[in-house]
Amino acid sequence: MDLRVPTTRRRFFVTATATGTLCRLDNSAGAAAASSRNSYRVFSEGRIAGWRLKNRLVRSATAENAWRDGAITEEGVNLYRDLAAGGVGLIMTGHMGVMPQGRASDLQTCIDDDRFIGSLRKIAAVVRATSKDCKVAAQLAHAGMQGQATERVGPTETPWPRLKNKPRALTTKEVEAIVAAFAQAARRAKEAGFDGVQLHAAHGYLLSSFLSPYTNARTDKYGGSLEKRVAVIREIVEQARPLVGPDFPILIKVNCDDLVAGGIDIGNFPQLAGEIERAGVQAMEVSGNNPIREKISTAEEQSYFLKHARALQLKIPVILTGGNRSVERLEQMAKVGRPQFFGFARPLLREPDLPARWREGRGASDAACISCNRCIRAYGKGLSTRCRVDEAD
Ligand SMILES: Cc1cc2nc3c(=O)[nH]c(=O)nc-3n(C[C@H](O)[C@H](O)[C@H](O)COP(=O)(O)O)c2cc1C
Repeated sequence: MDLRVPTTRRRFFVTATATGTLCRLDNSAGAAAASSRNSYRVFSEGRIAGWRLKNRLVRSATAENAWRDGAITEEGVNLYRDLAAGGVGLIMTGHMGVMPQGRASDLQTCIDDDRFIGSLRKIAAVVRATSKDCKVAAQLAHAGMQGQATERVGPTETPWPRLKNKPRALTTKEVEAIVAAFAQAARRAKEAGFDGVQLHAAHGYLLSSFLSPYTNARTDKYGGSLEKRVAVIREIVEQARPLVGPDFPILIKVNCDDLVAGGIDIGNFPQLAGEIERAGVQAMEVSGNNPIREKISTAEEQSYFLKHARALQLKIPVILTGGNRSVERLEQMAKVGRPQFFGFARPLLREPDLPARWREGRGASDAACISCNRCIRAYGKGLSTRCRVDEAD
């Protein structure tokens, strides 16, 4: 079914957010659904570890490009105020660098030193001050072979197909230091007031290249078998847990498909996910390579990792991310009960109040985001992260 609405039938209205961004909302396609969706399962309480989440809608990590001189900018803080005000149940921050050698770019938020805790506290504090029932987790990352600002490293010298140069293979001691850095970053996240952390093990970043049989052919304790590929995750959780205590959820975002022969795919993902669950993480966000797909317009193009998420048999909750655009489709999935949660990145840049709008039955049942990807292209140029649909590339 084609969910596109002919342009001649489109009507728009404009809302202002706390950051002053203007959101243009398509007020036509879902006009029939003008009553509240309070009874929908996507707006029912959900549980992740000890959290009670007010709904099943999660803001997926979206790097802010808002880190200057060792601190988060005011624009960065406002981004989180808007999100918390907009009704989402759980916010993942943009990825934060756990060690200087693993930074994705010079503009990436840092959590690699205690001196940053004061600034990071502003993010957790603004979320808490804006919405008492919205949780916020810090996403922790090492860029691995995708760093723009640092030496490119990986489990072995095999690069992802889209990268030209070979990464340098990390020594066992270096991997042990990275594990310790993730654990220390989790401690800092707790001290900065976050409700939990998420390990970024997707999209070609370092942890995802350890999990993938395509990039990890190590012969030490960090490679060679499924269990050993997951060892890096197991050790991070084991080392972080005593530092953060038992009530601080540790989540993970993973690739369900590397989109390369010999990598993670729908056939081997369920077994890998089971092993990652045994490593002690408390929820799994399902993403994959080519995560930010452009021009999603038909129903078939939405929620593009659904098949992979449905293949899982886990006890921990699953968050499905990538191309979630229609509240009615989400409700259908939520009724089946798998996945239990839904992640959004681009739609919440366009409409931070999308969860509230959907719940109240205002406007279209589709998100206004048209996946033009101007936001990610601008991010790549070092511009601050926001919806840029009305700007030229
Ligand atoms: C500007 C931008 C920045 C992103 N930064 C991150 C990030 O820091 N960590 C991460 O795991 N994913 C990141 N993503 C990917 C999103 O979390 C998400 O997986 C992807 O955009 C698909 O979801 P969507 O269709 O709701 O946008 C980013 C996406 C965008 C558009």
